[in-house]
Amino acid sequence: MAKSRRDRADSYTLKARAEGYPARSVYKLEEMQQHFSLIKGGDTVLDVGAAPGSWTLYVARKFLTKRGRIVAVDLNPLSLHPLPEGVVELVGDAFSEEIRAQLVAHGPYDVIISDAAPQTSGIRSVDTSRSEALCESVIALAGEQLAVGGNLVVKLFQGGGQEALIKEMRELFTRVKPYKPKACRDDSFEVYLVGLDRRG
Ligand SMILES: C[S@@+](CC[C@H](N)C(=O)[O-])C[C@H]1O[C@@H](n2cnc3c(N)ncnc32)[C@H](O)[C@@H]1O
Repeated sequence: MAKSRRDRADSYTLKARAEGYPARSVYKLEEMQQHFSLIKGGDTVLDVGAAPGSWTLYVARKFLTKRGRIVAVDLNPLSLHPLPEGVVELVGDAFSEEIRAQLVAHGPYDVIISDAAPQTSGIRSVDTSRSEALCESVIALAGEQLAVGGNLVVKLFQGGGQEALIKEMRELFTRVKPYKPKACRDDSFEVYLVGLDRRG
């Protein structure tokens, strides 16, 4: 019998635990990687909103070589103990002046991935506009710090602002696609905006 989304959600949690990932969200990135080939071996990757650390750990396990590096930034510390070699952890607001300076020092990046989510209020219009503001900031960061040919993934809580964000991303990328991985929970209103091949 076909599994419901909720059953799949449970199996994602169990699978994450068995594979040593701190969160089930890793399978959203894995699916987008399989679909879009976002990251390649040796890339320098920036993970914005990285805690507890599943996306960072996935990239470290699959793509980190001596050449590349992952910079993982979050308001909270990662739960990766020990921190994999090649991962630089920054704790703080990704868009504060202090952290921004450190991100710039480690850049530019071949890929920027952002699963950053605002603190939710339970009021959908408030949460979606906070999420849109976060997306705007991540897209602006990509404009400054993503290498030509690079890729971006950014999470959005869907409200009314998706089309405007996509339009903005089209100025920066050759291809832009909204994508909802199967691992997203049924009741979630999140979507990922994927920008491929940053224009020169
Ligand atoms: C859904 S979690 C990310 C899960 C992560 N991708 C993983 O796989 O473990 C969203 C994160 O975004 C972070 N966040 C939200 N706003 C941020 C900001 N301005 N700067 C840094 N991190 C932020 C939150 O602290 C939270 O840990």
